[in-house]
Amino acid sequence: MTEQEIYKGLAGVPVDYSAISKVNPETNSLLYRGYPVQELAAQKSFEEVALLLWGGELPSESELADLVAQERAGRALADNVRAVIDALPKSAHPMDVVRTAVSIIGANDPDAEDPSADAELAKAKALFAALPAIVAYDQRRRHGLELVEPRDDLDYSQNFLWMTFGEEAAPEVVDAFRVSMVLYAEHSFNASTFTARVITSTTADLYSAVVGAVGALKGALHGGANEAVMHTFDEIGEAANVEAWLDDALASKKKIMGFGHRVYKNGDSRVPTMHAALERLVEHYDRPDLLELAEALEKSFGERKGIKPNLDYPAGPAYHLMGFDTQTFTPIFAAARITGWTAHIMEQAAANSLIRPLAVYNGVDERHLDG
Ligand code: ACO
Repeated sequence: MTEQEIYKGLAGVPVDYSAISKVNPETNSLLYRGYPVQELAAQKSFEEVALLLWGGELPSESELADLVAQERAGRALADNVRAVIDALPKSAHPMDVVRTAVSIIGANDPDAEDPSADAELAKAKALFAALPAIVAYDQRRRHGLELVEPRDDLDYSQNFLWMTFGEEAAPEVVDAFRVSMVLYAEHSFNASTFTARVITSTTADLYSAVVGAVGALKGALHGGANEAVMHTFDEIGEAANVEAWLDDALASKKKIMGFGHRVYKNGDSRVPTMHAALERLVEHYDRPDLLELAEALEKSFGERKGIKPNLDYPAGPAYHLMGFDTQTFTPIFAAARITGWTAHIMEQAAANSLIRPLAVYNGVDERHLDG
C-alpha cells in the first residue's frame, strides 16, 4: 500500500474562505472585519464588536441603539431555562449547564428551524443576550445565592458583573471585563467555531451548532485552558515555587496550560492587550503576588522551551481577581465567542458545502465470516 499523506488535526490546511477575521501569525496580528483587535479593545464596546462581526461594518448609532435595546430586553432567563438549570446538580460543570441551557433556548424558539438571514441574526442576538444570565445565575446557585435580576440601566459588561455579584463593579473592572470579551469574541477556524461550521454544513439549526461549539470549547486544549491556568497557579502557590514546579512538570512531560497555539508560534496577538488589563486589575485589587507568579512562570517556561502564552494565560487570573469561580472562566469565554460562532454559522450557511473529510483506513484487511 502506498503511503498517503494525511493532515493530522487539519494543521495548516485551509478548508474554506472566511471574511470574518484574519489571523496572521507572521505579523502576530488579528483583524476583525479588517480592524485590528487591539484598536477595537481600546475603543469599542462589546455590543459594537458583536454587530461588526455579524454585519461586517461598525454599526451606526441607531443600529447600536437597536441592539442595546434588544440585548437589554433579552437578558432575563425564561422560566423553563431557569427550572432546568435548577434541576442540574451543583456539581455539574458550568459548561455543561451552558450547553444544556442553549438547548432549552433552542427548543423554546418557534423560529429555530427558520434558516432566513433575519431569523438567524435574531437567534444570534437572543443567545448573546441570554448567556450572561445563565453564566451569572449558575455561579450564584452553586454558592446557594438567589438570582439577581438584570438592570436596564447597565451596559452588557456592567450587567454581567452585576448579575454575578449583585453589586456594581468598579469602572476599571468593567473595562477589563469588556476588553476580555472583545478579545475572546472571534478567532477564525478555531476548534469550537469549526465544530459549529461542521454542524451548520449539515443544515442543522443554529442552536445545534452552538451546542456543539460549547462542547468543543470546554476542552483544556481550547477554551478550558483559562480554567486550567488558574489550577496551575493554585498548585504553584507563589512565584518562589515556579522553578521547582516547572522542573517536575517538564520531567513528567506535562503540558503547561495557557501556553502555545496552533496558529501563532511567536506569541498570541491578543496577549499584550489582556496582560495590560490584568496589570490594571492587579493594581485595583492590590494583588502584585499574582502578577509576579504569572510573570515568573511565563519567563521561566519561555526560557526553557521558547513557548509563549496565549490569551487564556492573562484572562484566567483576570477573571479570578474579578471574583469569578475558576469553573466559570470558560463559560465567560463562551458568552464572548457566541458572537464569532454565530457570525461563522451565518457565513457557512450563506455559501454552504457539507464538511465531510476522508479517513485513510488503517484497520485489518478484508476478511470473511466462516461458512
Ligand atoms: N506545554 C508544553 N509543551 C507544549 C505546549 C505547552 N503548553 N504547547 C506546545 N508544546 C510543545 C508540544 O509538547 C510539542 O513538543 P514536541 O514537538 O517536542 O512533541 C510542540 O510544542 C508542539 O505542540 P503541539 O501540541 O503538537 O502543537 P499544536 O499546534 O497541536 O498545539 C495547543 C497547540 C493545543 C494549543 C498546545 O500548544 C497546547 O496544548 N497548549 C496548552 C493548552 C492551551 O493553552 N490551549 C489554549 C489554546 S488558545 C485558546 O483557546 C484561546
